[in-house]
Formats: sequence, C-alpha cells, structure tokens
Amino acid sequence: MDIEEQLPSPLQSVSHGLLKQKNIHLFIKRDDLIHDKVSGNKYRKLKYNLTKLKSEGILQVISFGGAFSNHIHALAAACQYTQIQAIGIIRGELDLNNPTLKYCTEAGMILIPVTRGAYRLKEKSLEVQRIIDLYPGAAVIPEGGTNELALYGVGEILDEIIMEPIPTPDYFVLAGGTGGTTAGLLNSDNLASKVICFSALKSDHLQHEILRLAHNRNEHLLIVNHDYHFGGYAKWNAELCAFIDQFETETNIPLDHVYNGKAMYGLMDLIEKNYFTEGSNIVYIHTGGLQGKNGLTYMQQKLE
Ligand SMILES: Cc1ncc(COP(=O)(O)O)c(C=O)c1O
Repeated sequence: MDIEEQLPSPLQSVSHGLLKQKNIHLFIKRDDLIHDKVSGNKYRKLKYNLTKLKSEGILQVISFGGAFSNHIHALAAACQYTQIQAIGIIRGELDLNNPTLKYCTEAGMILIPVTRGAYRLKEKSLEVQRIIDLYPGAAVIPEGGTNELALYGVGEILDEIIMEPIPTPDYFVLAGGTGGTTAGLLNSDNLASKVICFSALKSDHLQHEILRLAHNRNEHLLIVNHDYHFGGYAKWNAELCAFIDQFETETNIPLDHVYNGKAMYGLMDLIEKNYFTEGSNIVYIHTGGLQGKNGLTYMQQKLE
C-alpha cells in the first residue's frame, strides 16, 4: 500500500497492578500504531487486497459498512493514498456530520446509503446489486474487509511476533467481529499458542465462522468467548467506559468501546478470576478502531 506505515508494529510490555498481583506477563501488539488512518486489522486486511487491485489495474472498489465503520474509514483513507476510487455502501441513513462519514467524504469516497434490509442481504438484494451494476469495473471487498487475502495479511502479525525476543506466548487474545482476524492467526503456519477471541457481537455463530474462514486449521487452539459483548455490537454502558478510562490512565494505551475495550475488559476479568496459570505469557493484539472514539463522543453529544 502506498502509505508510510510503522512496521513491524511495536510489541509493548504492559505494566498494570492486576498483572503484577497475578504474575501474568502481558504484551500488546500495537497494530493501532501502524498508521493514523489505516491501522489495526484494517491495515492487515486491506494490504494485499489493494496491492492486488492495483497490480490488476482495477481502480474502483466497493465495500460495505455501518455509519461508524472502522473498515469503511480505513478503506477511504487507503484508497485515497493508493489512488483508487472507493465506493461505500452504508447501512441506513447518511448523517454526514458523523465524524466517520465526514472523513470518508473528505477522503473522496462515494457514499451510498441502503436500507437495513438490503444491507443485510448485500449482493443478494436488488437494491445493492443495482448500485454494484453502476460500477462494472469495480472490485467488491466484503464487509469488514474479510476475505482470503485479508487472512494472508493478518498472518504477518505472527511473522512479526516470532522475531521478538519474548517466550512463545501461551495465548494470543483479540476482539472478534466477522472472525477474519482470528481466522488469519489460525491459518498461519507460525501459530503455536492458544487464541482467545472475545466476540463483540451477541450472535453465537462466530466460532463456526472463524473455523470456516480458517479452513478448520488449528481448531484445537481456538477459544471463542461470548461473555463480554455488553449487550451486542456497538452497545456500551458506564461500566465499560469506566474500565476503558481506568485502563488508559494506568497504561497509556487507548482502547475503543466497540472492540478492544470489550476484549480487554474480558481479558482483565479472566485474569482477575484466575483463568490463567501464574507466569502465563499473553500477547493481546490491539486491532485499532480508535477513530470510533470520535463517533462515541458524537453520539454522546447527540443524546445530551
Ligand atoms: C477495531 C476492530 N477490531 C476488531 C474487529 C473484528 O475483526 P474481525 O471482523 O476480523 O473479527 C474489527 C472489525 O472488523 C475492528 O474494526
């Protein structure tokens, strides 16, 4: 991709009272620092997708997302840098004051809203298909950027970690939505650790979806946890916000409220409950999503 990325992303040892008390070694793979606009798992997923499009001379790309989508935001930025025309099919009405969509427009993305019903069906709906037909030369990247090439890009997280002077982790921990990032880890030849995926969604299909995407590789290493979704996708409450504030103050590491705040809450809660044996080495993969913090502030102000 034609951007100035920070790679390998830093692997940071975390100091926190609870970790000390329980004798747990926690490292955070700071993929949120890869780039200020194209960061986290979005960078990993888009890297080979956009490189391939460019090499094939495809200069238009269509993808899908909600009003505060990290994927849509990163795609808009990556396409602007790569000089590809991005078209975002957006769930529900378009509020162009929302900071995510405002940025996308400024970055040159064409935004087209569709009804929630059509969005659910994606290419199978007439409404969406008509939009796709308007751009016959465009490639379509799925929601969340999850496809085979995305998995390949995610696998590079492990290639980077293996070069670090730390013991082989007992666990990798990360947040899950479509399951693509977790599947990318499972699909890697370099995986020798358990992987705990904290679902940010209420749905119970995630395990099945991850294994489908990963072609059932390393199934025995996968643990999907559904206990920390806080009511479902993009739902939050005061307890979650207080946790994020407290974690950020203690570690200086920012967390979003849709994915990483929930997954880190889950991890810390399991540590508190002695889920991990003393001396365990855990690598938490920070998947980014920090642009969503502006969306949270925007929503909170709207509710006031
Ligand atoms: C910041 C962030 N973290 C985690 C995820 C979940 O990743 P995946 O959809 O690959 O499971 C997403 C959404 O894709 C995301 O935007």
